[in-house]
Amino acid sequence: MCGIVGYIGHRPAFPLLIKGLKRLEYRGYDSAGVALLEQNELQVHKRKGKVQELEDLVNGRSFSSTLGIGHTRWATHGEPNDANAHPHFSADQNLAMIHNGIIENYGTLKTELEAEGYEFRSDTDTEVFITFISDLQKTLNVSLEEAVRIALTKVVGAYAIVIMSKDDPNRLIAARKGSPMVIGLGKDEYYVASDASPIIEYTNEVIYLKDEELAIISRDGLEIMDTQEVPQQPEIHKLDLKLEAIEKGGYEHFMLKEIFEQPKSIADCMRGRLNASAGELTLGGIQNYAEALAQADRIIIVACGTSWHAGLVAEYFIEDMCRIPVEVEYASEFRYRNPVIKEGDILIAISQSGETADTLAAIELAKAKGAIVFGIVNTVGSSIARATHEGAYLHAGPEIGVASTKAFTAQLTVLIMVFLKLAKRKGTIAESRFRELLIELESVPQKVEKALKSDDQIREISELFKDAHNFLYLGRGYNFPVALEGALKLKEISYIHAEGYPAAEMKHGPIALIDENMPVVFIATRDSSYDKIVSNIQEVKSRKGKVIAIVTEGDVLIPKMADFVIEVPATHEALMPLVSVIPLQLLSYHIALMRGCNVDQPRNLAKSVTVE
Ligand code: F6R
Repeated sequence: MCGIVGYIGHRPAFPLLIKGLKRLEYRGYDSAGVALLEQNELQVHKRKGKVQELEDLVNGRSFSSTLGIGHTRWATHGEPNDANAHPHFSADQNLAMIHNGIIENYGTLKTELEAEGYEFRSDTDTEVFITFISDLQKTLNVSLEEAVRIALTKVVGAYAIVIMSKDDPNRLIAARKGSPMVIGLGKDEYYVASDASPIIEYTNEVIYLKDEELAIISRDGLEIMDTQEVPQQPEIHKLDLKLEAIEKGGYEHFMLKEIFEQPKSIADCMRGRLNASAGELTLGGIQNYAEALAQADRIIIVACGTSWHAGLVAEYFIEDMCRIPVEVEYASEFRYRNPVIKEGDILIAISQSGETADTLAAIELAKAKGAIVFGIVNTVGSSIARATHEGAYLHAGPEIGVASTKAFTAQLTVLIMVFLKLAKRKGTIAESRFRELLIELESVPQKVEKALKSDDQIREISELFKDAHNFLYLGRGYNFPVALEGALKLKEISYIHAEGYPAAEMKHGPIALIDENMPVVFIATRDSSYDKIVSNIQEVKSRKGKVIAIVTEGDVLIPKMADFVIEVPATHEALMPLVSVIPLQLLSYHIALMRGCNVDQPRNLAKSVTVE
């Protein structure tokens, strides 16, 4: 959700904060702001809109402050406007705070503070939070860190906060619960941020603050305690992240870069894990609980959005290869519906960011009921990665475009490896089939590379459909979740209404929508349901729908019926989603671009959804 960044050291903070906010902008882009200490005055500069608007606001002014905090917002409480932008001041303007998360009992706190005579300038829970801290500091006559500590024991909800004080030019106070926070260790300087992207340029040594920890960050040292005042020994991690990985590398958008990166990101996922010629799969992260996985009599998968679609593909794969029943759940529904979980049940959580609040809550619920939880996560050291018992990282590199692309294919690759290995262990697939799939999987990066070659053709098709008001995406079997994913991609970045459906379900309702204005994207590659989907295409054509079909290279039948065909290379049907999703990603990218949409930062969305 929101992005937070802080700096304390010997350099002017403002340029570092602006650069950091630009790197974090994918987390939220409704408004941006900074707080600085200039000539003993706490200054806040903030503005609705992107970080660029904030830069325009300060209009080239230079600042001498060597500490500061910055924020890029994804609105939760209060509409995006200047007043609701962070940082927020305490009533006496002695404290400034940035916050990512939601304080659930802010209404009660606000009423109590208003009864004491406080007035609020914004509609945010954050202003209530900092006013509460400032009030505690005064009424209890305690230090700032003590007031923060006490406040943390009274607020309900999620937060990552950084506070600076007019009276203390040498310290930042940071704390987290449920929202991520990383502290970067420089030479006589510290950085604090929602993720490592603003930090890696300066240092590769970081500490991941844990839930309910409080950090007192001074120019000459760092102290961490929990909310019971018990000092904590932080673990220093070395970041294995290159700056190029978070830059556009010559592409117009992160999304396009990430789409084109997929041959490499899929190969990176498999590197050191898959050895097709030796018939070996090595997954170092899944060892201690591998036997429990093999003994599972069912598997529950929880995730949200695109990651949930990856879970649906995994359901087909696991049932097909491992013969274990699978349930795929939206984490947000699962966590609130009193699910039946018994001791030793297996839960697989899939998440790119590793911070999705609903997925994290589903994990905690399952753990509390005795389940063993595996994580399929991209972001190293993220909350979900830490909350799970074991798991496998995607190694896809940071995904910055808000619409998920390379994470989806990486999730599929890792899930396929995990469950192929399990199928072999359980003996539910023949050795020859296992080997055949390994060889096929190894060749997927080249096939994705080839699928990307349709880019120009897809751009031409996009031109013809960019003004459509609706789209239908249809697929069967392994390609059904791909249809869902194609529709999600289109709606989130082009704002065209799109629905994904199992092709055979169409006749139970959506067929009523079909006329000459309805583009229907069929994912109709050659697989066990090919003949059936050919019939579904005919049903659409006989109602004058416009058919765009994703077909296997060399298909001669569907080109005779469809208005447009986009070819992808042949592969095993269980691996086809890795290839068939590529043209759909490109289609949504080009349509969104032609409609003038902000592809990397679509309206109302944020990359990492740390609120429920
Ligand atoms: C869609 C998209 C979202 C995410 C969802 C889960 O393009 O990006 O639907 O897939 O918010 O996020 P993670 O995978 O970070 O848990």
